[in-house]
Amino acid sequence: MTSTPPAVRSPRSAGNVGVAADPEPRVDGARVLRTVEELAWFGADERGGVSRLGFSPADDEARRYLADAAREVGLVPTVDPAGNLIVRRPGARTDVPALLMGSHLDSVSNGGRLDGAYGVAAAWEVLRVLAAHDTPLRYEPVAIAFANEEGSLFPYPFWGSLAVVGQLDNPEDATDVNGASLRRPLRETGGDLDRTAEAAWPPGSVGAYLELHIEQGPVLERAGVTIGVVDAVVGRTIFDLVVTGRQNHAGTTPMDGRADALTAAARLVLAVESVARDRKLCAVATVGVLTIEPGVTNAVPGLVRMSAEIRDNRADRLATAEAAVLAEVARVDSAGEVDATVRAVTRFGPVPTEPALRDVITAAARELGLSHRTMPSGAGHDAQIIAAIAPIGMIFVPSRGGVSHAPDEDSDDAHLIAGAEVLLRAALRL
Ligand code: GLV
Ligand code: MN
Ligand code: MN
Repeated sequence: MTSTPPAVRSPRSAGNVGVAADPEPRVDGARVLRTVEELAWFGADERGGVSRLGFSPADDEARRYLADAAREVGLVPTVDPAGNLIVRRPGARTDVPALLMGSHLDSVSNGGRLDGAYGVAAAWEVLRVLAAHDTPLRYEPVAIAFANEEGSLFPYPFWGSLAVVGQLDNPEDATDVNGASLRRPLRETGGDLDRTAEAAWPPGSVGAYLELHIEQGPVLERAGVTIGVVDAVVGRTIFDLVVTGRQNHAGTTPMDGRADALTAAARLVLAVESVARDRKLCAVATVGVLTIEPGVTNAVPGLVRMSAEIRDNRADRLATAEAAVLAEVARVDSAGEVDATVRAVTRFGPVPTEPALRDVITAAARELGLSHRTMPSGAGHDAQIIAAIAPIGMIFVPSRGGVSHAPDEDSDDAHLIAGAEVLLRAALRL
């Protein structure tokens, strides 16, 4: 991984924002693509793709880069105490609610260049266009790059959006996967762990939130449709599990005298998969983290930490699947030599988008002559958190091969530009 930022181009295109009357503002598609490319530089992973983990140095550099780029064109960036980067027009109105637009800046480890970054780049562009036109708007447009949506380094997904809605639980205790406090990295971004409560937006201050994102699945591509109008964002429960056996010598411990934490965990992994695959209690179930101690060839594993993540669009199904996972943990625990315990459970319920905003997005796509369809989101998004304080709308564009959270995540340039156009149109319609 490398960490020298590209220079901010000066001027990035036609110079600073100046107000011009234009009945039909358009996004500069090339500029959106360029911002996406520039962001991909931060945390560029030598294995391919991007590793820009939330609150890592690369994430911090990307945030600074975006702030500088906004300042260069006369927009006004600020970082809130939770590390969210917020950009406003000069002289932004405070007497009307905000039209908040954005996504997240962080990526998963060895992820793609579009997840989050695309929505941020497009929001920056739309804000810039709106700042340059005197189109009367009901809401003040504001662009936001949420901090730590993925939670890959600091396992606190939706950190930034939870701060915005005033729902961060025990932020002072936030540590990374190695136990290091968030205090210093947050301070380096311009945030402050003791003041995250001040990142909360007051009730009524957000008139609407729009998030543009790649679909991250195969639905739009298979259907040959350009725009997805999201009707609901999936619910998710994340279990943090520990299986404790007895560490011992791999050569001298007879097979019948073992308490192997990994073989027990392996049974649990398959049982979790089965909750979705065979029993169909929820849409998907995944074990994505498995750490083995001591993790050497010649010792019987004594301890395994593992995640189990289940998702569904229906809260009742998610609850049933949760109970099934817990029953499997109990089964492994009561089967014999190992202890299987639940260390933590994190829940994010399924969230519908606002019907009126779906209509606005649909109308915007129609106006632009773009094919569109309504669909749910199987991925989580900051939008589902912002729904606690504002109506939310989400726009999807196709993902090539349905690939995401992987280096070869990609979308056609034309689709990326089309999505940004829809975001702008939707903003104007609001
Ligand atoms: C967010 O990226 C998710 O895991 O759905
Ligand atoms: Mn993601
Ligand atoms: Mn995302």
